[in-house]
Amino acid sequence: MNASQTHHALPIPNGWFAVAWSRDLEAGQVVKLRCFDRDLALYRTRGGKAVLLDAYCPHLGAHLAVGGRVFGETLRCPFHGWRFDESGRCVEIPHCKTIPPLARVKSWEVLERNAMIYAWRHAEDKPPAWEVPTIDVSGQPDWTPPRLVDIDVAVPMQELAENNFDPVHFEFVHGTPAPPPSDYEYAGNGRFVRAVSNMTRETPIGTFDTRLIRETFGLGLSTVVSEGIPGVGTMLFVSVTPIDATHSKMRWLLTVTKNIADDFGEEFMTGIVNGVMMDVPIWENKIHRDKPVLCETDKDIGEFRRWTRQFYSEVGGG
Ligand code: FES
Ligand SMILES: [Fe+2]
Repeated sequence: MNASQTHHALPIPNGWFAVAWSRDLEAGQVVKLRCFDRDLALYRTRGGKAVLLDAYCPHLGAHLAVGGRVFGETLRCPFHGWRFDESGRCVEIPHCKTIPPLARVKSWEVLERNAMIYAWRHAEDKPPAWEVPTIDVSGQPDWTPPRLVDIDVAVPMQELAENNFDPVHFEFVHGTPAPPPSDYEYAGNGRFVRAVSNMTRETPIGTFDTRLIRETFGLGLSTVVSEGIPGVGTMLFVSVTPIDATHSKMRWLLTVTKNIADDFGEEFMTGIVNGVMMDVPIWENKIHRDKPVLCETDKDIGEFRRWTRQFYSEVGGG
């Protein structure tokens, strides 16, 4: 039998996805973006609000982020000066009294927290079905200022999320033991998953019963927190954004409690980033099988695939 070599193309999922770091968008700044297989213009109004619009002007099609300028709360097209407000409606056309009713661009629902700006993407334009949770760590005084890391990969985003539910690859790709079996809890109408693994850890300051808590919010956002060593914590917040069907952008926010920053903080952060770099050649050269042959250690992968289906409008996701 000839096994199939066909790559099953995954559609782009629905959900909240990061489109920029907050620090990369100052008031009055306009940024050209590509996400969700769309060309987009992101700007921050003088009042400080992040606004995301489809890129191309309804007039003669200029890219609003290439030479476009912020005027107050609006964005002015570089070509003939039409101005668009945060709802995407054209509110001024130079030298014209009337504004054609079709003079508008799509405006994306945006929210900003955890040092990132997110957009709600839905293939059928349905409104947001959940909120991005606030990760309550960056403002706390006993944690280091977060380290922000960007990683671009030529991989459909679901493959990145699936990695967390693949215990056996840790041994072969990362050279570390598989995390112990996790208990899963679902929340947010089934859209959030919390996986808790307990393990005994030997450290220079003693042996502790620790918990590794991995939470996933929709298909694009997750946290990994370790607990159980008194006064010591590490936190990783990961966002994955579909750029198109085969490219994804990861944004990582890493922080540790200050008491271990000097001894252990760098190792933790570089260890996480180097770890994912070991996955990249596998991801970038694999195909996605929609019907993989699974074995008894792949229970979590099967469960993850079923869970992902709720994030797709098109048949063929998950
Ligand atoms: S193309 Fe935008 S104003 Fe003409
Ligand atoms: Fe991995």
